[in-house]
Amino acid sequence: MRALSQLAERLPRSGIREIMEVAQGVEGVVHLEVGEPSFITPDHVIDAAAAAAHAGQTRYTANAGIPALREAVAARCAARWGQPAQADEVLVGAGAVNAIVAMLLTVAEDGDEILVPDPGWPNYRSQIMLARGVAVPYPLRPERGYLPDPAELDRLLTPRTKVVITNNPGNPTGAVWSGEAVAALMAWARARDLWVIADEIYEDLIFDGEFTPAAPFARERTIAIGGCSKSYAMTGWRIGWAVAPRELVAPAGKIQEALVSCPSNVSQCAAVAALTGSQACVAEMRAAYHRRRDLVRDLLEPAGLLPNVPRGAFYALVDLRATGMSSVDAARRLIQEERVATAPGSTFGDLAEGMVRVSLASSDEDLQTGCERLLRFAERHAAAAVV
Ligand SMILES: Cc1ncc(COP(=O)(O)O)c(C=O)c1O
Repeated sequence: MRALSQLAERLPRSGIREIMEVAQGVEGVVHLEVGEPSFITPDHVIDAAAAAAHAGQTRYTANAGIPALREAVAARCAARWGQPAQADEVLVGAGAVNAIVAMLLTVAEDGDEILVPDPGWPNYRSQIMLARGVAVPYPLRPERGYLPDPAELDRLLTPRTKVVITNNPGNPTGAVWSGEAVAALMAWARARDLWVIADEIYEDLIFDGEFTPAAPFARERTIAIGGCSKSYAMTGWRIGWAVAPRELVAPAGKIQEALVSCPSNVSQCAAVAALTGSQACVAEMRAAYHRRRDLVRDLLEPAGLLPNVPRGAFYALVDLRATGMSSVDAARRLIQEERVATAPGSTFGDLAEGMVRVSLASSDEDLQTGCERLLRFAERHAAAAVV
């Protein structure tokens, strides 16, 4: 047999999936490892999808999406950005995942360097591999509230640096960037003539502070990423988008043709209902995540296990460095010894080594039990590490 492609060989497996496999079959495990809303998609969205399917919205659409959804996304951005935005600046994708890959393939050449957050969502690195680029991690340090330092970013620049990816609110950090931090990063990117892929998929999930969108600071270079998965509990519908300078959208549409032809027609109709219907469901889900954030904070912060209290998204990075264990070891032993599954920090980058991520998308009961078990584990092993 001929060899497989290097890409197929080299793409890493998800550290979260590996932990899910370890946890499978272990009785009584509390699952805090997966970042997926525990809610079902709101009824009015499901009803709109069913009606659209019955009305014949079951065929291919334009590569960049149906006009009604592109218009709804543009209207949402215009309202949030305080600047006009048009439908022809919008590319709809099969999830934000697809929109990010299409845009990476639109702006980056083989070997171009792309700055990615560390810790950050691991998929950026595999997406960059698909685009034959080189991921260069930039540090988000707990002592800076997981916000980037432009001076540190400067040290990573080379003539091949083309794009910086930002994620606000952040997965796995739960950081919400201050207005000053967004302004500084955007000014930095403009002065160095870089594209900015601003992944804002968690923009609706803020508990403390305010969301500052990146695009208004430098529309000419910003590719703003959003989607329905997190705000409307629609992960399985696969609808996300990129809002970018219009000269990127037509070529990205050609790339969509090769990747997926178009996102699902019925799902796009569902997304129109989500964006244009009542937003009360978003507020309700946000309130639930907020309550769970408070619960986790009250349990873990007094023990010094939360270097930063999450202010948005639905994750918390729990610091187990005092145990002296690697994060993979800690995650495996947490399953074996305490029956709680978490995502190992090293999956998100070197800077989260020694930490594990818990998902606030899990139920209140699971979070309560899981955090109590985490605490017990941390206390037992930190004491052992000192001896
Ligand atoms: C930071 C970040 N961006 C994008 C996504 C993907 O979203 P979608 O379901 O729209 O592909 C996720 C999902 O976990 C995420 O955490």
